[in-house]
Amino acid sequence: MKLRTFIAYQTFLIVFNYAYGQKSTPASDCPSINEGDNFTQSEFLSRLADECRYDRLLLPTYATGETVYVHASAYVYFIQPAEAHDLNFKLHFLLQLRWTDLRLAYHLYSPKRVTIIGEDDLRRRIWVPHLYMSNEQSSSLMGTDSKDVLISISPSGEVVFSRRMQAVLYCWMNLQKFPFDDQTCSMNLESWKYNASILRLMWEKGIPPVHLSPELHLTEYSLIDFWTNESVVRGDISSMRLIGVGNYSALKFTFKLGREVGYYLMDYFIPSMMIVAMSWVTFWLQADASAPRITLGTSTMLSFITLASSQAKTLPKVSYIKASEIWFLGCIGFIFSALVEFAFVNTIWRRKKVVSLKKVNSKYILKSTLTPRLARKELQKELQESSPQLSKSRSCSSLNQDTSTDPAGPGYNNYLTVHSFPSALNLPTITTQSYDDLMPGQGGPNRQQNGADSDGSDEPPKHHTWTTMTPQEIATWIDKRSRIMFPILFVFFNIIYWTFVYCL
Ligand SMILES: *[C@@H]1O[C@H](CO)[C@@H](O)[C@H](O)[C@H]1NC(C)=O
Ligand SMILES: *[C@@H]1O[C@H](CO)[C@@H](O)[C@H](O)[C@H]1NC(C)=O
Ligand SMILES: *[C@@H]1O[C@H](CO)[C@@H](O)[C@H](O)[C@H]1NC(C)=O
Ligand SMILES: *[C@@H]1O[C@H](CO)[C@@H](O)[C@H](O)[C@H]1NC(C)=O
Repeated sequence: MKLRTFIAYQTFLIVFNYAYGQKSTPASDCPSINEGDNFTQSEFLSRLADECRYDRLLLPTYATGETVYVHASAYVYFIQPAEAHDLNFKLHFLLQLRWTDLRLAYHLYSPKRVTIIGEDDLRRRIWVPHLYMSNEQSSSLMGTDSKDVLISISPSGEVVFSRRMQAVLYCWMNLQKFPFDDQTCSMNLESWKYNASILRLMWEKGIPPVHLSPELHLTEYSLIDFWTNESVVRGDISSMRLIGVGNYSALKFTFKLGREVGYYLMDYFIPSMMIVAMSWVTFWLQADASAPRITLGTSTMLSFITLASSQAKTLPKVSYIKASEIWFLGCIGFIFSALVEFAFVNTIWRRKKVVSLKKVNSKYILKSTLTPRLARKELQKELQESSPQLSKSRSCSSLNQDTSTDPAGPGYNNYLTVHSFPSALNLPTITTQSYDDLMPGQGGPNRQQNGADSDGSDEPPKHHTWTTMTPQEIATWIDKRSRIMFPILFVFFNIIYWTFVYCL
């Protein structure tokens, strides 16, 4: 019991003495810094930066009113652009600031001392400029408790302040050319407290102000270029009283990144080319093979949409059209056209009318398959104009037309003949003959076969320049043309697309 009271008393005495001792020291009684070489570094520094002669809240030049020049340099360890939809990037760097604080010049007091080096405790004793990153999303000192800070003071009062930091910075990307885009991102350092006439930030002269680590690995990008700028920015929050008056000195470090297309080529462009090519397999299948052709068309369409949407998920939802979306639209257009081509060809296949053609070329075939009635009307008109004595055939042909559209009339159904005459002048006899063939009596028993096999033998006399094609032949003909046209058009689309992407 006694012992305890004694210890408590002693403790009280120690505390009391300490507090009293501190209080009793007069402010004017500054610890001497002469013969500074005899002190340890921390003892010397605590004397040098003692509150009685050093106010760390005041600028180094508060007495003279001159501008403080702060020289900056940086060493970048690591740049990691985030996924495009985050619109930011992560930076690990060492920021070094250099300025002169003449109040800390100690060469007169401690001539043998070469340098004073300290960490965070030293930073707390002296004035340091307050900078901030104006485009930061978040930033922090690396290491816990601000360990990664290093300050050295030279005998002439030059202070070098190094600090390892990590920052996540905003970078507003323009994705119009995605994934063939270049992005320019920057780190903006600004003075927080003092305006440009009081504190001026500058990049180090003579040496490159920003070094990049040789081990800088950018996963999705390659570094194209980087540069630094100094500027003065207007305090844009001028309505606030304390900060934002006047202009502030700012530093900018900008780097340009080019996106590596390799990943997108392997994961998007080449697979989508293959899917488009796969959709052409349908042209080698028969026109009435509905099940395989529809399955092929829809499955290529679906797999392409899946591919494209998985790729589009990584992008921000911007309103403009990106280069990858133009590619998407082009490819989906090709796949869709292949599906539509099947529908078209299949419809023609199921027709029963034989089609007569002046010539076997795309113009006549497409004209007569797309607009059979129109072609027929044209024919009638031309016939009337060229040979008036044929006007009687009009009624026949109109009758023919009416019945032929009736699926119940087998005789006419099979033998609607569509003529396309390029010129009415040289064909009067031919047309007469052909119309005789088409008269209601035309469907003789020898011709009452299905249109499908009405080739060769059923053809009009040989002096006719036109030929007859069954719908099946036409369907096959269209498929055969598609086999060539689709790849050619796709190659053409590719040439245009890649030219635009790389030359604009
Ligand atoms: C400092 O040390 C030197 C010898 O190294 C000595 O002569 C001098 O008296 C010392 N000064 C003080 C203030 O202790
Ligand atoms: C920044 O510096 C680069 C190169 O030093 C220069 O091309 C560019 O014009 C400067 N930008 C501004 C805004 O001063
Ligand atoms: C900086 O602020 C001081 C007052 O603190 C003002 O007198 C001076 O005009 C300002 N200079 C600039 C460039 O804003
Ligand atoms: C700030 O800079 C602008 C031009 O950049 C200038 O017109 C203005 O006077 C400056 N403000 C101060 C307070 O110096």
